[in-house]
Amino acid sequence: MSFDRLAERANATTFVIFGASGDLAQRKLVPALFSLRSKGRLPTDFRVLGFATRPWSAEEFRRNLEEGLKRYHGQTSLPESWVEFSRHLHYLPGNFADPNDFSRLAQELRALEGGPANRVFYFAAPPRYYPDIVRGLGEHQLLSESSGWRRIVIEKPFGRDLASAHDLNRALYEVAGEDQVYRIDHYLGKETVQNVLVFRFANSIFEPIWNRNYVDHVQITVAEQLGVEHRAKYYDGVGVVRDMFQNHLLQLLTLVAMEPPSSFTADALRNEKVKVLRAVRPIAPRETKVNSVRGQYLGYREEPGVDPNSETATFGALRLFVDNWRWQGVPFYLRSGKELREKATEVLIQFKCPPHVMFPMAADAEITPNLLSLCLQPDEGIHLRFEVKVPDNQAEMRSMDMEFHYRDAFGGMAIPEAYERLLLDVMQGDASLFVRGDQIELAWGIVDPIQAGWEGEQAPALSMYERGSWGPAAADTFMAHDGRAWIMGCGGHSPSGPVRVR
Ligand code: BG6
Repeated sequence: MSFDRLAERANATTFVIFGASGDLAQRKLVPALFSLRSKGRLPTDFRVLGFATRPWSAEEFRRNLEEGLKRYHGQTSLPESWVEFSRHLHYLPGNFADPNDFSRLAQELRALEGGPANRVFYFAAPPRYYPDIVRGLGEHQLLSESSGWRRIVIEKPFGRDLASAHDLNRALYEVAGEDQVYRIDHYLGKETVQNVLVFRFANSIFEPIWNRNYVDHVQITVAEQLGVEHRAKYYDGVGVVRDMFQNHLLQLLTLVAMEPPSSFTADALRNEKVKVLRAVRPIAPRETKVNSVRGQYLGYREEPGVDPNSETATFGALRLFVDNWRWQGVPFYLRSGKELREKATEVLIQFKCPPHVMFPMAADAEITPNLLSLCLQPDEGIHLRFEVKVPDNQAEMRSMDMEFHYRDAFGGMAIPEAYERLLLDVMQGDASLFVRGDQIELAWGIVDPIQAGWEGEQAPALSMYERGSWGPAAADTFMAHDGRAWIMGCGGHSPSGPVRVR
């Protein structure tokens, strides 16, 4: 069904943002809601109520959001439609731990709505306040669905480890059902991430070779050019495994490795993802030395707010195995880091080499294996690399790419921000692109022992790397040990030279 037809079915809705004076509301949430409004995809009777500790008036709240639109979304002057939209933006200062403030919130909601209305409660406050907010909502019956649906959206990080994620899930289940809880992983809102499923399951030619018989290994790279920026307070001590692997990289892994669900429903999809996470072979803390690399960019310890002796990893690489019929023995190499040479997210499937080479080739020549690269950002598309014959030459071969780029294929159509899709899905009650409680706990169960290994006595050395590089040399050695190399297949290049063949 089209988004527009879905929007017709929605009715009066209030979007409450806890932590509304922060960065996320300004950069992402309200701009996404404004864009949805401009596309006619929000109900007519719609409002935002910001709730945060800063003692702002509604006017100050709106001004802050306007600055955000200008600073982050290149709006030099605000369009007419913003004036209309901003009338629906309200603000209530309050303390997340104060029951009186939750009574005021309940009163304010009734006054603004003037009748039955659906409500989204968006947790964009610092995560240490999540338990207070859950309690406040529960104690004031704000999640009872007698006059409209009530949905909670929770930003990451969802816990700091398995135990804290489990506690948060338990607290949520005391006041709400799983069907009311939407745990965000913004990677799932990215169009190209969703396209992984379309690519795999709407085409019949790839599925038969998508397994251990044909796939040599899989690489998942999420490389960032930015450093820790102004987020040291959150990031230092958290590090790349909790910040990126527990959520985004493992989500990508599940999409690549899962079995085809029988239908495109939230539970069918999430059941298959859960099966993948259950099949991931655990890495015990003492095994992290051989199965992972941890790195830190030079200059990280001098960043404002970072402990000068910090051991926090800003780069990580892992070798994981998925112990099931389809993937037994196929390594999945995952890596992510900050201050790397390029911003690039891609999934690369390296297929096995032909079993027999009949062409006359020089003794030291090797056939390059086929590569399929799913380019998730920034140059969204797909590359398939295969061998061709060099003309006017007896048997020389060269690797060529067959390429698809979103930017060319859809007439320059802008790819919407992940949050637009996710917020709309929340309002439509579609949880397919959100993380279920059991999934999040399984993901923590995979990364907790790795993090423990990294913090323990048998940790792999913390390898330093230059800003603007592809990470520590140890990450290349790690791959070379397996007879492989990291490859960027999306318009990029291999950081370690040409593709190596085993
Ligand atoms: C966030 C992490 O979840 O994802 C950040 O907390 C990271 O550290 C960001 O920079 C990357 O997201 P994107 O969409 O820019 O790839």
